[in-house]
Amino acid sequence: MTASTANASAVVGLQWGDEGKGKLVDLLAPQFDAVVRYNGGANAGHSVVVGGERYALHLIPSGILSPGVYAIVGNGVVVDPARLLEEMKILSDRGVDVSKLVISDRAHVVMPYHKEEDALREELLSSSVSDQTSASCGVIAAIGTTKRGIGPAYADKVQRATAIRIGDLLCPAVLREKLTMICSMKNAVLNALRPDGQASFDPDGIADEMIALGEQLRPMVKDTAYLLDDIRKAGGTILFEGANATMLDVDHGTFPYVTSSNSSALGMGPGTGVPPQAIGRIIGVVKAYSTRVGGGPMPTELFDGVGDEIRTRGREFGTTTGRPRRVGWLDLVALKYAAMISGATELCITLLDVLSGEDELKLAVAYDMPDGRRDRFIADGHALVDAKPVYETMAGFSQEITGARTFDELPDEAKAYIQRIEAFVGVPVGMISVGPDREQTIVRA
Ligand code: GDP
Ligand code: IMO
Ligand code: MG
Repeated sequence: MTASTANASAVVGLQWGDEGKGKLVDLLAPQFDAVVRYNGGANAGHSVVVGGERYALHLIPSGILSPGVYAIVGNGVVVDPARLLEEMKILSDRGVDVSKLVISDRAHVVMPYHKEEDALREELLSSSVSDQTSASCGVIAAIGTTKRGIGPAYADKVQRATAIRIGDLLCPAVLREKLTMICSMKNAVLNALRPDGQASFDPDGIADEMIALGEQLRPMVKDTAYLLDDIRKAGGTILFEGANATMLDVDHGTFPYVTSSNSSALGMGPGTGVPPQAIGRIIGVVKAYSTRVGGGPMPTELFDGVGDEIRTRGREFGTTTGRPRRVGWLDLVALKYAAMISGATELCITLLDVLSGEDELKLAVAYDMPDGRRDRFIADGHALVDAKPVYETMAGFSQEITGARTFDELPDEAKAYIQRIEAFVGVPVGMISVGPDREQTIVRA
């Protein structure tokens, strides 16, 4: 018999990533028996600040910082084994106990040729753009990926025969046989993509490297679907840690300017093997404004001094690539859509402190399109380019709010801003984050 109660919760981003999911997962993790990642790979960058110490997690769930809690890398994650081991070492060297880390035998492996293909495809797409003004979201434009090999690794998963799973790294004979076939195919494809036509991935060399990495991972590799079910059957609780975010979901985001997985809450089941009825609470994390990294439309993007101020105050530079993040006002049309897709039962508004000092705050409540005004989101990266936001303007606040610990301690203007968001989206705001530290959080009764 499998466990049947809704004893799992989730933290999922409702924008284009970097909403502060890592901070929230770290805060909540001690209340759970396991934290599980279900999608993405080293494209994610989750920053957690504990006692003034900053940790950057890419593949390892943020729950690793909570002693005694399982940190599970689910089957839906694409794993770069060398990066995972490097991340473990960095954490161990800083005194973090990594003994509760478990990796699914069914997670797919990001191979060296995936990273090369990711970079080559991006290069080719950028050089195909003739009109540079449309480079961020034209019909042909680079996606602006993290170049971590994410798209090609997921493509091989769907292709099936050319995929390598973590379990394969533990079976040297199988791996060698597969790699002989795969490398000949990859070299042919990459030769067509490479300007010099010199792709020469060597199956034996890659197999030696991957078998050695697999040996290091072996003690952590398990059937995590059964492990998660065992935890639930024993009355334990699970927290899902979303990576990337709802607007980057391959089916429901601003396609094609998205990542290659179901990075909304909808990816939880396939990415872990936990059935839908297990999930009760879904916390949608949203910044008090918008950010985006890479290409693709962002209707409320700011190109003026206000955008620069928010970028500087919010330290909006990527955790994974260091790229400056694009900044804009909060887009309530997009947020309401994302809350619908991810089934958010509550919202957590983060980085509210960053807006302190702005005279006025704008919220997009509709889009003007060539064919008229609309209040529904357009989940198409090309069509969305034409959306001109219709703003509602609210009074800003100038007080420093990083010390606020209750909703009542916030300035009236900040309270009104939060209340407007919850009224528009129709989902209550349960938590407000006013700084990167664990304690800098308001939990509403
Ligand atoms: P994630 O990918 O969703 O985990 O978010 P990132 O870690 O990539 O980016 C969020 C950034 O904001 C990190 O540098 C956090 O330390 C920081 N952060 C999180 N919450 C707050 C907050 O309420 N206020 C401020 N000022 N920074 C925050
Ligand atoms: P976290 O978990 C922000 C974006 C990339 C690019 C697009 C596709 O830290 O919120 P990919 O490498 O996945 O093929 O890139 O998706 N992207 C993210 N942006 N935060 C992330 O993760 C992201 N993961 C992917 O910038 O535009
Ligand atoms: Mg991030």
